[in-house]
Amino acid sequence: MSVPQISTGSLRLRFLLAVMLWVVLGVAGIWFTANRVFEKHIEEMYHEELEVHVRELARLAELDAEGHPQLMRPLSDPRYEVPLSGFYWQVSVPGQPTLRSDSMTRGQLDESVAHSPGIAHAVEAGPTGPAITYGLLEHGPAGERMHIVIATDQSELDEDIASFTGELAVWLAVLAALLLATGLAIISFGLSPLNRLGQAIARLRSAQADRLEGRYPSEIAPLVTDLNEYIRQNSEIVARSRVQAGNLAHSLRTPLAILTDEAERFMQDSQSAPSGRVLLDQLEKMRQQIDYQLARVRSAAGARGPGSRAMLPEVAVPVVNAMRRLHPGMTFELAAPESPIVVAADPVNLAELLSILLDNAGKWARETVRLDIRLTDENEVVIEISDDGPGMSDEQIATACEIGTRFDRSTPGSGLGLAMARDICNDIGAELVLKSGPQGLIVRAELPAAEKSAHPAG
Ligand SMILES: Nc1ncnc2c1ncn2[C@@H]1O[C@H](COP(=O)(O)OP(=O)(O)OP(=O)(O)O)[C@@H](O)[C@H]1O
Ligand SMILES: [Mg+2]
Repeated sequence: MSVPQISTGSLRLRFLLAVMLWVVLGVAGIWFTANRVFEKHIEEMYHEELEVHVRELARLAELDAEGHPQLMRPLSDPRYEVPLSGFYWQVSVPGQPTLRSDSMTRGQLDESVAHSPGIAHAVEAGPTGPAITYGLLEHGPAGERMHIVIATDQSELDEDIASFTGELAVWLAVLAALLLATGLAIISFGLSPLNRLGQAIARLRSAQADRLEGRYPSEIAPLVTDLNEYIRQNSEIVARSRVQAGNLAHSLRTPLAILTDEAERFMQDSQSAPSGRVLLDQLEKMRQQIDYQLARVRSAAGARGPGSRAMLPEVAVPVVNAMRRLHPGMTFELAAPESPIVVAADPVNLAELLSILLDNAGKWARETVRLDIRLTDENEVVIEISDDGPGMSDEQIATACEIGTRFDRSTPGSGLGLAMARDICNDIGAELVLKSGPQGLIVRAELPAAEKSAHPAG
């Protein structure tokens, strides 16, 4: 299955951008909410724990006989004994040496937070950086003011939060990737009918089908039905036009024949001979115009319309073979690159162009006609037909593409071939160049915008 192309303005790109926006907004929302909830929760846990510790410290603190603060037994949390662990306590009584936890090998805690019997807290400078400090004021047996203070480094809390956010980021990245992948799968699944429609259109263009085939979801089905109806009506109109053009030509041929007859009778009388000549010339022009327009209608009816692709030399091979039968004494040589070239032209038009030019070369060559097909560095397809016949002068080349122009009356023809070749080249965006070569005539058609491909274009 081919990977669908994403171009600016494509439906796929729109959906992709919408899904990406949706995933980014969703994941950012989860990130913000989860972080807020976790921070709040862990802060509350810390504060509750510190409150418990400050109460325990207050319960264990007492004054000895000299009024020095002391603990009845160590605090239950061993982290208060590890030096500079980030967990500290302090009991101070004015005029007495301050009692501190073993963890506090340096510094001191601000006792001002312990200013009332109720628990108060603040963030103060601690021994190892900013610390969340809890304190309460107790009174000794003789009314001494005992400042009970517990502190934990703010960084402890920050580290817990940072570790949570780090882990959350990883999980959210995984979630975002999964959401994007499912989003892409949903887009491809949702747009697959459009891909099938694209393939059906390609089959229609390459004439492998004459209508859009396949079953489509209810949103697209009416469009496909309408398109099929439009295609059917179009084909009918084209077919009818061809019949009408044919009818018109036939209906004109009989009056033309009668008029020609009359003009020839005029020619027999010396007095009316000049008028007869004028009439015959004009009648010949009318006949040429009718033949030319009929030929164009026929070839336009066979063409598949804009956007079609033709393969070279595939299209040229049957034309060359037909020419070998039509001009049995001639040698037709075909030179083309090995890998096929895809040309942005209708195969019917291209085959017609080749047969007009090869037929001319076959009519006037001495013995050899050569067809060269090549791809230039600028990605242009060059089709060159050369022969070893008499060629044409520059003056003849200047008018050769006009309807009815013929320079060699001894060879049968109607003088329409090159005019049609020029029109076909205009239709397919090619340039037709005629020039006299070293031996005979060289006719070159240059087609822009070609793609090199090993597969037939759909
Ligand atoms: N390869 C050629 N070598 C020499 N003269 C040519 C060659 N191709 C075309 N011509 C000259 O140009 C004239 C116009 O060619 P064109 O194909 O339009 O008409 P035609 O071949 O005479 O008739 P038709 O193609 O309609 O049957 C020819 O009559 C011929 O004189
Ligand atoms: Mg011709």
